Amino acid sequence: MLSRRSFLHHIAAGAAASFVATPMLDQTLHAQTNGLRYLATAKNMFFGAATTEDRLRTDLSYRQAVLNECGILTAEYEMKWDRLRPTASTYNFVDSDYIVNFARQNGMLVHGHTLCWHRALPSWFSGTVNRNNAEQFLRDHIKAVVGRYKGQVYSWDVVNEVIQPSDNTPNKLRNSPWYQFLGENYIEIAFRAAAEADSAALLVYNEYDVEFDDTARTDAILSLLKRLQAKRVPIHALGIQAHIRSADAQKFSATMSTFRKFLNDVAALGLKIIITEFDCDDRSLPSNTQQRDEGVAKMYGDYCSVVMNNPAVIGFITWGISDKYTNLNTTAARTDRQPQRPLPLDSAMQRKSAWYALEWWFLNTSTRPRLITGLAEYSPLKTLECAPNPASSQTVLRFQVERAVHLRLSLVDAIGREIAELGDELFAEGEHQRMVDLANVAQGVYWCVLHSATDRSTVQIAVQR
Ligand code: GLA
Repeated sequence: MLSRRSFLHHIAAGAAASFVATPMLDQTLHAQTNGLRYLATAKNMFFGAATTEDRLRTDLSYRQAVLNECGILTAEYEMKWDRLRPTASTYNFVDSDYIVNFARQNGMLVHGHTLCWHRALPSWFSGTVNRNNAEQFLRDHIKAVVGRYKGQVYSWDVVNEVIQPSDNTPNKLRNSPWYQFLGENYIEIAFRAAAEADSAALLVYNEYDVEFDDTARTDAILSLLKRLQAKRVPIHALGIQAHIRSADAQKFSATMSTFRKFLNDVAALGLKIIITEFDCDDRSLPSNTQQRDEGVAKMYGDYCSVVMNNPAVIGFITWGISDKYTNLNTTAARTDRQPQRPLPLDSAMQRKSAWYALEWWFLNTSTRPRLITGLAEYSPLKTLECAPNPASSQTVLRFQVERAVHLRLSLVDAIGREIAELGDELFAEGEHQRMVDLANVAQGVYWCVLHSATDRSTVQIAVQR
């Protein structure tokens, strides 16, 4: 784990080394210090993009743009099951290793994508994985992948796209192979396995289409989050894919306030929010490049006006950094045959209006509490003390939480046995105190323990009779 200061130092040192190695040095010196990655870091946030290893290896101007702009990288394909699992019993980490090493050498974080999804499954999957072995397959995969990158992947999309109201399952879960094999339980299994393999990684549930007041979806997402939290499942953030379309501009304006409310509801659960795959499909905009770029930038700005204003949003990742490689040219080709322009940089790596919209928002958004580089530092528990009242058997337990968090409070004896539960509730951000009555407790040394989903904090109490 890196402290904020060493993290910044790490960025500076790593970046300097890579710039020396690139032939683009002269043209890009200026860009190196004002890239979005630095603007985000100044607000204790992160900005980055999805990339592929082959583009990083072979396209120097693209590689330079990634270095200039990105403080976090997502593997566009390289960490999906079909790329990591050539056979049921083997793993191939060559390409994902390249991205993780590139990020580490250049002071970038990595957002791991994705441990459990109904798509991008290998061809052997359907003939091999079944009800009886699915849990083992899922656990083994997560243990191997998260374990390999322990301490190197900042955040993981543990599950991707798990809600689908039209599938008509009881809790509106997607009727995916994982659901068919294991029921809703697979989600919990995946999160617990990820936490076991790397207790410092930020664990994310990644979902799409939450922007447009589709309450069947957003209610189902919120109830899933609450069910997971009630079971103490280690989940730390909601990822919002944010593949938006210029065609939805009016719809977005009309439903902005419900989207804002949804983000507040997620934040009220004590969860962080990451925009994980932003791009803007420009098919509804005219061929004219300038008009198109302005229309796209307007969507960036409108979207940011909602998400950047919510302090629970800690990062913004785009699905690619340059139009040169957007996958929308294959999945959403324009009828005028012009290439799509959905990303912050054009295909010559030049900044577009969309880039400037992001710049404006990073310059003007509030500074987040602090840069989160791992859950040890992410702990919401700030201070903890016990103030015994000498005149009675009561002790006041004082603590502060930095964000809303669900805590269980318990009293543990000197050899670690829990002897009383003192509380189990959602605490709002701020200071709290609880009275603990020790009248029925024998003389000795005890511990008050505060358990959150991700860590625990303890304070000693001596009981003298
Ligand atoms: C989803 C997935 C991504 C990617 C995109 C394609 O959002 O999470 O991995 O496949 O679709 O646009």
